[in-house]
Amino acid sequence: MNNKKSDIKTFDIDHCQLVDLPKISDPRGNLTFIESSKHTNFDIKRVYYLYDVPGGADRGGHAHKELQQIIIAMSGSFNVEIDDGRKKKLHHMNRSYYGLYICPMIWRSINNFSSGSVCLVLASRHYDESDYIRDYSEYLKNIPLLK
Ligand code: TYD
Repeated sequence: MNNKKSDIKTFDIDHCQLVDLPKISDPRGNLTFIESSKHTNFDIKRVYYLYDVPGGADRGGHAHKELQQIIIAMSGSFNVEIDDGRKKKLHHMNRSYYGLYICPMIWRSINNFSSGSVCLVLASRHYDESDYIRDYSEYLKNIPLLK
């Protein structure tokens, strides 16, 4: 990954970039692998996935104070909307060999899931509710303190 560990606290959507994952193409089916700290700029502490998402559902809609994540469309497609309080960007995820890196203190929503899609998230920390900011106005209030 291009982001250096020292960059990750700048809370800017420009640091949320697509990660090109290795892809072994094969007529029998392609293979992608991810090695913690080699293809990610954090140690992977947790993996979770969203699946059986009904049409029109909106997941996410929160920010994390410390958590770093990489979001991958394992199957199908969905949109990831990222917002740093000044700028917003939409990533349409539809390839399982790209990951979207999300640095801390980015507001993110995931929506427009295609039928049967699976959203995989690699996370730098164990689950911790106190790391969440779930209220957008609270998020905006917290940004100046952290910059
Ligand atoms: P949440 O992260 O709030 O998902 P979303 O913002 O998409 O709705 O998680 C939903 C619920 O799942 C919440 O009650 C916390 C729980 N959860 C865990 O217990 N462990 C986890 O690793 C995650 C991601 C969620």
